Amino acid sequence: MKKEYLNKFYQKTHEERLHALVSAEVILEEDTSDFKRKLQLPEETANHMIENQISTYELPLGIGLNFFIDQKEYVVPMATEEPSVIAAASSAAKIIRQAGGFKTSIQERTMIGQIALKDVSNMKEAEEIILQHEDQIIEKANQAHPSIVKRGGGARSVKVRQIEADEQYNAPAFFVIHIHIQTLEAMGANIINTMVEAVKPYLESLTGGTAIMGILSNYATECLATATCHIPVSLLRKGSFSGEEVRDRIIEAGQFAVVDPYRAVTHNKGIMNGIDAVVLASGNDTRAIEAGVHAYATRSGQYRSLSNWSKAENGDLVGTMTIPLPVGTVGGSINIHPGAIFSKQLLGNPTAQELEAIIVSVGLGQNFSALKALVTEGIQKGHMGLHAKSLAISAGAVGDQIDLVSNELKKRKNMNLATAKEILEQIKDI
Ligand code: MEV
Repeated sequence: MKKEYLNKFYQKTHEERLHALVSAEVILEEDTSDFKRKLQLPEETANHMIENQISTYELPLGIGLNFFIDQKEYVVPMATEEPSVIAAASSAAKIIRQAGGFKTSIQERTMIGQIALKDVSNMKEAEEIILQHEDQIIEKANQAHPSIVKRGGGARSVKVRQIEADEQYNAPAFFVIHIHIQTLEAMGANIINTMVEAVKPYLESLTGGTAIMGILSNYATECLATATCHIPVSLLRKGSFSGEEVRDRIIEAGQFAVVDPYRAVTHNKGIMNGIDAVVLASGNDTRAIEAGVHAYATRSGQYRSLSNWSKAENGDLVGTMTIPLPVGTVGGSINIHPGAIFSKQLLGNPTAQELEAIIVSVGLGQNFSALKALVTEGIQKGHMGLHAKSLAISAGAVGDQIDLVSNELKKRKNMNLATAKEILEQIKDI
């Protein structure tokens, strides 16, 4: 990638941006013709994706810049409606790349399918029987989906969980069997659900219990992705704050989010600003990722920060984050949605593990930017510029009027829609 062509990307016109991507060798010249239409979801496809379809719903697609992850350059597609998210991610990535970029470690991708049984009279005995029949259970699961086995994946192991009756919630005891399944490049919901449904009757016959359901678990604790960054204090100076001060304040902000759930939710929401934007752009399931990530944030028994910020022995700021990231590069809408197909191309056709590495890094970078702003000048200063543009557009400004209205709006005490409308009227009168 010829990254230098992407400098000052935000200052370019829409057309210049596409050409910059071509010059940077991120996309091909032929991709730029009729670009907008090519990325649109055809009505016919949309109609086959959901029920009662009446139209499509668009979001802005932007690119996160400066990402250097595991020694590789990335231009990251991000679909989001929120101003500042992409600017913040790109600015974090710019600082972090100067410190060697993000380093990641991605667990072997194993998904979990659950079968829950009730009325298992002797759970201890049932557990022994299940574990004695592990090979047979795996074989039955794999027989239900031979194509994933042919490609090198499939069911790998079986785990039993006994959940005691809970009087407070009026819940009986459950005997739960987990099947650990490797779905390779897919997130694998269909593969997992097919397998667990196929083994359900066999598990009933082994345990004497009654299966209440078989379904994948979105709590993908066997599909974890970790990103780390080390940032020297020389890169952290901001306004009147020294690098050391910014580092220590970010660490304190991180500690606050570890111990206070009210802060942790906002802290993690900021992380998900970046994560969701890439998950969505890549055609993956944002709800599955959100649900799993937030559950992971409660693994200690309290909802806490997903990231961790500390001081290295040499004084660097060290950021790290581990989250479940069961994303795929095939299946679902990934190979159907033109935007998702384009995103994959933009990322250089990554493997699912590589996609996890990119997403977890974006999340950590997003968090770094938010904390850095919060503990120094606050986030409003940066946000207001983009917010002013949104207000200008909402007020009805078009073309050049958008910048004229938003620039004037930033100078006013009351930055709101009424003021934006008032400024627009004045501009129209000139
Ligand atoms: C806004 O969308 C996200 C932040 O609130 C995140 C945070 O507070 O860490 C800025």
